[in-house]
Amino acid sequence: TIPVILDVDTGVDDALAILFAIKHPDIEVLAISCVAGNASLDQVVENTLKILDAADAPAVPVAAGAQRPLIEPARSASHVHGADGLGGVQLPVSARVAETVSAVELMRRTIMGSERPVTLVALAPQTNLALLLRTHPEVAANLERIVFMGGSASVGNATAVAEFNVWHDPEAASIVLDSGVPTFMYGLDVFNHVAVEQPVAEALAAGTDPVGRIVGALLGNRIAVSEDDPGEYTGLIGDAGAVCALVEPESLRIENRPVRIELGGYGRGQTLVDMREFAGEDVVHGLAEEWASIDIALEVDGPRYADLFLKTLGLK
Ligand code: BDR
Ligand code: CA
Repeated sequence: TIPVILDVDTGVDDALAILFAIKHPDIEVLAISCVAGNASLDQVVENTLKILDAADAPAVPVAAGAQRPLIEPARSASHVHGADGLGGVQLPVSARVAETVSAVELMRRTIMGSERPVTLVALAPQTNLALLLRTHPEVAANLERIVFMGGSASVGNATAVAEFNVWHDPEAASIVLDSGVPTFMYGLDVFNHVAVEQPVAEALAAGTDPVGRIVGALLGNRIAVSEDDPGEYTGLIGDAGAVCALVEPESLRIENRPVRIELGGYGRGQTLVDMREFAGEDVVHGLAEEWASIDIALEVDGPRYADLFLKTLGLK
């Protein structure tokens, strides 16, 4: 199994990702850390605990982390995820409680206490990760790699060029990228191409399987959002795709590319990806040799991941 820590801002698609990670037999969720992003920190913690119940998960430690980005105030994403972060999908109050330690301390303990190197899966603004790596740099030696949903080598969503998770805390993303930990980027280039078709989502929502009803409702919410914004969010499994990438990388086209985070001006939060054929060798026009070189997913077999998602949850 792959031992992972999930860092989340639950979030409609973070919820789908947690369900998938808990249910997949090859993934072991050691801990979940929460951060403000799609919703306020308190709301993210509450949603995360509820989704663990929905997944019938064993006891997984959950901790609250950063309430806001390193520099800027937190910004609302309620136009995508609703005021409650779950698009109004009602779930019973959970009897689970969050740890009393901070997310950074939970991550540190979990990583240092693990016999096997841990994969840190970030599905949210990377504030918690940046704080962890700056406060406890020793964790890097016991990390297998960081897998993050964020960024883009093409289009943005929060702005024309910036993806939400990176845009929400660009300084944090920059710290993580420069940490030297092997990093894999699952950005909008693939995120935007893994969707469950609307009739399938509707049938799940109207069905009898309890997990299927929740998944159908969450996906239905994505589809409803996309009606105002055609083509943008149609039935996307979103963050869940980044977790699929842990177990089925062969359905992706991956390239190693120099990347850095734009911190200033109109491009703030953009992931600058050097796609030139001579990237990395050019010392004159671009300083690419100073950029972090990371693996980036550029193409995905979307139907394959949608299938993997549904089958893992026993919904196909
Ligand atoms: C990312 O931003 C959030 O809205 C989603 O949960 C996902 O992690 C997509 O840009
Ligand atoms: Ca997210």
